[in-house]
Amino acid sequence: MMIRIHRWILTLLLEMAVLATPGLAFQNVPVSIVGSSCRSHHPLQRSSGICSSLYAAQQQEQSKSTEGTTTSGSTDSPTDSSNGQEEGEEADVKNLRVPQVHLPPRLAPGVAWQHHHRATVQLVRDHTSGINKQQQPTPQLEVSAEATDEEADAQGNPVGRFLSNIGRSSPLVSASPEWKRLQQHAKYIQSTHLRDLLQDTERCQEMYATHDGVYLDYSRQRADLETMRLLFELAEKQNLKQQIEAMFDGEKINFTEERAVLHTALRADRSKIGTVMVDGVDAVQEVHEVLDQIQEFTQGVRSGAIRGYTGKRLRNIVSVGIGGSYLGPEFLHEVLKTEPEGSNAALGYSLRFLANVDPVDVERTCADLDPEETMIVIVSKTFTTAETMLNARTMRQWLWDFMGNDKEVVRKHFVACASVSATDKVRDFGIDTENRFFRFWDWVGGRYSVCSAAGAVPLSLLYGFDLFEKFLQGARSMDEHFRSAPMEKNIPILMGLLGVWNMSFLGYNTRTTLPYAEALLKLPAHIQQLDMESNGKSMTKFGIPVDYPVGEIDFGEPGTNGQHSFYQLLHMGQTVACDFIGFVQSQQDLCLDDEKLSSHDELMANFFAQPDALATGKTAEQVRSEGVKDELIPHKVFEGNRPSISFLLPKLTAYATGQLLSMYEHRTATQGFIWDINSFDQWGVELGKKLAIDIRNKFLKARNEQKEERRAEEEDIVEADNPATERILNYYVKNSAEESGEARGFGRGSSGEATSSSRKSQREHVPPERNDLCGKNGKLSR
Ligand code: F6P
Repeated sequence: MMIRIHRWILTLLLEMAVLATPGLAFQNVPVSIVGSSCRSHHPLQRSSGICSSLYAAQQQEQSKSTEGTTTSGSTDSPTDSSNGQEEGEEADVKNLRVPQVHLPPRLAPGVAWQHHHRATVQLVRDHTSGINKQQQPTPQLEVSAEATDEEADAQGNPVGRFLSNIGRSSPLVSASPEWKRLQQHAKYIQSTHLRDLLQDTERCQEMYATHDGVYLDYSRQRADLETMRLLFELAEKQNLKQQIEAMFDGEKINFTEERAVLHTALRADRSKIGTVMVDGVDAVQEVHEVLDQIQEFTQGVRSGAIRGYTGKRLRNIVSVGIGGSYLGPEFLHEVLKTEPEGSNAALGYSLRFLANVDPVDVERTCADLDPEETMIVIVSKTFTTAETMLNARTMRQWLWDFMGNDKEVVRKHFVACASVSATDKVRDFGIDTENRFFRFWDWVGGRYSVCSAAGAVPLSLLYGFDLFEKFLQGARSMDEHFRSAPMEKNIPILMGLLGVWNMSFLGYNTRTTLPYAEALLKLPAHIQQLDMESNGKSMTKFGIPVDYPVGEIDFGEPGTNGQHSFYQLLHMGQTVACDFIGFVQSQQDLCLDDEKLSSHDELMANFFAQPDALATGKTAEQVRSEGVKDELIPHKVFEGNRPSISFLLPKLTAYATGQLLSMYEHRTATQGFIWDINSFDQWGVELGKKLAIDIRNKFLKARNEQKEERRAEEEDIVEADNPATERILNYYVKNSAEESGEARGFGRGSSGEATSSSRKSQREHVPPERNDLCGKNGKLSR
């Protein structure tokens, strides 16, 4: 209640101040007070809720300013555009002088409120103190999270100072002259065609970059050298290089979770020990301690020195984890499967991933495995994720069912990769925390964790530690390039800036990853999580809603499979920005005696053809000249002008995969830095998780009532917040009663308790016979 009153007073004060100040309010850029009580229907402001009176004025003024822009100069040619641009710049500077008062909406109680409160106070402070926010990417306020508005006032009277300084510019990057110049330039680019841009020799010679064998060609972007210059200016304005440094240095740039973002430390060279400290702890030293531990343990397993409960060699690895604790390791596993060094090292071993809580996934994972030869790797940063923990308990039960209910079974067959803060939970599960716990740290985000124990343990068990190290080296090479190369030749920065250009200025909100390498089949899924969980945001780090599009939709498939699936849309439907990834040499070259070209050449012919087809298209004249009937011509025209970038790497090795991983991680970070969003938190996944727990509890209650037959069969037994949910829940609960565990009379395992498995199929399961490799260190000679 107090909170609501304070907000109401603050809103009123601001509104009154703005309205009472002639010349300040509503000149060109709107004054908007954002709060949950005011709901807007404007698409760009939907989440912010601008008060209707202010919003009307804003619309009026915006339409005036748009009229001004359209008549200010022609954008038909580059020369005209630059004239128009100067005029536009003047107008922009004027725009920047008018006040924009955005306050973050108040969200749910608890943590969200604390973040809202901090963001609000920080915002007001920035407005009043003139601090350049960009140089302080980690707002660390002394204001306690529980501080009331009065306390906040007492700590600097922010509202009063805010009102007296109301003429300051908006912290939104979209209000900057650099952003507005790009908007203006985008109008010119819209009038160009890639067919023509690709004929410009100077442009094509400039629009590529290389590093350590990675070749990036971005000449098929809807951009020219001027676009790049303006994007670099925007990057300067956003202190991109400083933000990158802050990340590498371990500053707590993930400010909503008060965490550093140090996945780069996971692959830092040993020589960097002592250079990155987090809360007084040497991050690189910690990393190398764990890597050494992983090396020793995995070599022990692979040599046969470490064995299972019954003395058998451990050859099957089941990695249990979801999201970032699964997608990155699986993507790397798929690469190494067919990489010659990898496939040789993995002979005699198997690795499977159990991610989904669907019991079918359990069956698919271990139906044909011998439990006595199976090692379970639980990968979970928090060690609380519901899906992972149920699957972990299921696998524990599976082992107990075969080898008996002995704690030693768990100590010998389970390892954990989790955050140090989850140590107690790992111990409670029964895992040997002295020898079988491989830690990582809060400063490793789940989706950035493939280089940590999360990837290192399962992949080193299968392929050996040496090969995993090559992957780390590749990532390190790209990290160093990202940190030190000038922006103009910096591959991840170029990727990120072009991502911002396509999304925020040209309006292409979908992007696809198209590896021309079957072994990269899981890269698109990894990028999907990496980028969509990172940049799928709508709030800037100032706690103000973005008023520009951010966060692309990512999808993808290996070529040429995609060509026979969704490429129709890429060529003739909506415009989707494409990333083509190809290799000079194949992992597995193949050339039939009577074929003139190798299979890899056939694949790569497609890799080179598709970007040009998308860029240049095919005109009606060209179609006509092929003798196509007039009525069919419109159906066969390709408008072209569809942007893509192409990467060419020498060969898909562990090292190259490390480079690719790092490149994409840093693209995501670059875009987040430019957009002023926090790419390292993921609050958006919380609400669904919370509701699932509520529904799970409803199921529990309903199942008990069903068991005790306390309710008539036709009666609704589940109550929900709305009739639609209530109806469908009751439909499910009634119709699935027969299938539930209680109905079948199976026991239910709970943490630490040994009960019989509820999986019917395992009761009759006979482990398959396996050949022993006779102590050849798990390797077969070539
Ligand atoms: O669903 C979101 C998420 O938190 C991811 O970010 C994370 O990778 C995944 O869940 C798994 O989390 P954990 O590693 O803690 O089990």
